[in-house]
Amino acid sequence: MDERSGSSSAAMSDAHPEDPMKSLSKVNLADKLSQFDDLWHPRIVGELNGQHVKLAKIQGTFDWHHHENEDELFLVIKGRMNLEFRDRVETLEEGEFCIVPRGVEHRPVAEEECHILLFEPASTRNTGNITSDRTHDVLDRI
Ligand code: NI
Repeated sequence: MDERSGSSSAAMSDAHPEDPMKSLSKVNLADKLSQFDDLWHPRIVGELNGQHVKLAKIQGTFDWHHHENEDELFLVIKGRMNLEFRDRVETLEEGEFCIVPRGVEHRPVAEEECHILLFEPASTRNTGNITSDRTHDVLDRI
């Protein structure tokens, strides 16, 4: 029996009710951001094609690192951040994003609290090739 033969309203509203990450329901970024306050600790808010959509709050200077196998997208939702590279700095304002190619050393820096969305393969570790007290190997889904 096909799952769509059950409740048609359930099937219409939510293709995978057992997994909120595969829900058809919309995601409100402000609502998700209101659910946590700690800095440099990304939360997973969506998943597609082996990639994660994550939200994080950042302030201060992160660790220099790179990701051996993953390209990483940073999108600023609120505030401003600098994405530092060894030879240049990219300043991201609200509504702007930058993709850091795999292998490229980078260091996010935010003078004031900044809220960002990350889009990257599920295998991506926040501190990449280094381990620090900010490393989070397992991230919560909210
Ligand atoms: Ni990174």
